[in-house]
Amino acid sequence: MAVRAKTVFLSLFALLVVVVLGGITAVGWQVVLGPDARPVTSTAFEVTEARLARGKYLAEGPTHCFFCHTEHDMSTPEYPLVDSKKGAGWVMPIPQLNHIASKNITPDKETGIGDWSDDEVARAIREGVRKDGTALFLLMPYMDFASLDDEDVKSIVVYLRTIPAVQNTVPVRSLPGPLEYIVKTMPKPLTTPQPSHPSSTPAERGKYLVTMAGCGTCHSPTDAEGTPLPGLGFAGGGVFSLPDQPGKLVCTANITPDPSGMAHYDEGLFHETMRTGQIPGRMLNHIMPFSAFRNMTDEDISDIYSFLKTVPSVKHRVSNTDPPTACPLCNQTHGLGDRNVKQ
Ligand code: HEC
Ligand code: HEC
Repeated sequence: MAVRAKTVFLSLFALLVVVVLGGITAVGWQVVLGPDARPVTSTAFEVTEARLARGKYLAEGPTHCFFCHTEHDMSTPEYPLVDSKKGAGWVMPIPQLNHIASKNITPDKETGIGDWSDDEVARAIREGVRKDGTALFLLMPYMDFASLDDEDVKSIVVYLRTIPAVQNTVPVRSLPGPLEYIVKTMPKPLTTPQPSHPSSTPAERGKYLVTMAGCGTCHSPTDAEGTPLPGLGFAGGGVFSLPDQPGKLVCTANITPDPSGMAHYDEGLFHETMRTGQIPGRMLNHIMPFSAFRNMTDEDISDIYSFLKTVPSVKHRVSNTDPPTACPLCNQTHGLGDRNVKQ
C-alpha cells in the first residue's frame, strides 16, 4: 500500500511538474529567471549642446516624460504639474493598477536615478529593464520608446542629468492578479545599433513622432488584457476614468481620416488642438497631453498631421459629450457607442 501510495504521489508530482513546466514555457522562462536583458556599458554618453537641446525638446514635448513622472495637482481640471517636484515620480490615479507610481527620474542619488549609468537609463527607456534587472510595467511606454534612435535616447539621458535632483521616494509597485508575472515576459533587448531615421518625407517623420508620443497607444482600443483590437488602430475608444469626477469616463477620440474621426480637421485646427486643447465648442480633458505637445515645433506638428492622413480610415463614432452607451465595435461604453456597427 505504502509503495503504491508513493507511486501515485510521485506520478502526481511528475504531472504537476509537467503542468508547471508547460505553463512556464507557454509564458516564458522569464517568469522565473527575470526579464530578457542585455548587459549594459558604463561609458558615459558624451554631453554636447546639441544633445542637451534635443533631449530637452523630446522630453518636454513629444515623449512627455514629465507628464507622467511629475505629481499633478488634481484639484483643478487643468491637472497642473507641481513644478518643484519635476520628474520626482507620481502615485498615479489608476485604482485598477493599485495606483502604480511612476518613478523618480531626477538625478537624486538615493531616491532617483543619480547612481544609474547612462546606458542603464537608456535601457530602461527603450527596453523596459531597470538597473536591478527587473522589468518595468508597460504603463512606462518603453515599447513605443523602443523606436527612438540611439542619438535621440542618448540626448534624453544627457538632458535628464541636468534637471534638479529632488528627494522623493515613491511606493513600490504592486500590480493586481498575474500582471506581476506577465510584465517579466515583455522586455525585448535592443542589441543592434539603432541608426537615426532618414527623415525623407513629412509622413515618415510624423510616424516617428507619433510612435514616441504614444498617440496610437492611447487612441486605439484594446481588449481586457491590453492587446490592441485588430483593425481599430487610431480609431479611439481607449477609456479613462476621471480622478476628479468619480464615475465619469473620458474616451480617446478617433484620429483616423474618417468622417467619424478627423475628416473635419484642417492643418490650422490641428495645430490649435495640439497646442491649446481647444476644439470647436469646448476644451479637451487634460488627460490628452497637449500641455506637453504644445512644446513641439510647428514643423513637427505638421509632420504628425501628414502622417495621420495616411493611417487607414476607420468608421468608429466616439464622443465625450453624448451619454455613454455600449459599443459593439470596441466593446467599451462611450458616447455614441450604440451608433457603431460591428464590421
Ligand atoms: C504614460 C506615462 C509615462 C511616460 C510618458 C513616461 N514614463 Fe517613465 N515610467 C512610467 C511608470 C508608470 C514607471 C514605473 C513602472 C513600474 O514601476 O513598473 C516608469 C519608469 C521609468 C523609469 C525607471 C525608473 C526606476 O527607478 O525604475 C525610467 C528611467 C523612466 N520611466 C524614464 C522615462 C523617460 C525618460 C520618459 C520620457 C522619454 C518617460 N519615462 C516617460 C510612466 C511613464
Ligand atoms: C495619455 C493618452 C493620450 C495620448 C498619449 C494622446 N492622446 Fe489625444 N486624446 C486623449 C483623450 C483622452 C482625448 C479626448 C479628450 C476629450 O474629448 O475631452 C484626446 C483627444 C485628441 C484630439 C481631439 C479630437 C477631437 O476633435 O475630439 C486629437 C486631435 C488628439 N487627441 C490627437 C492626439 C495626437 C496626434 C497624439 C500624439 C501626438 C495624441 N492625441 C496623444 C488622450 C491621449
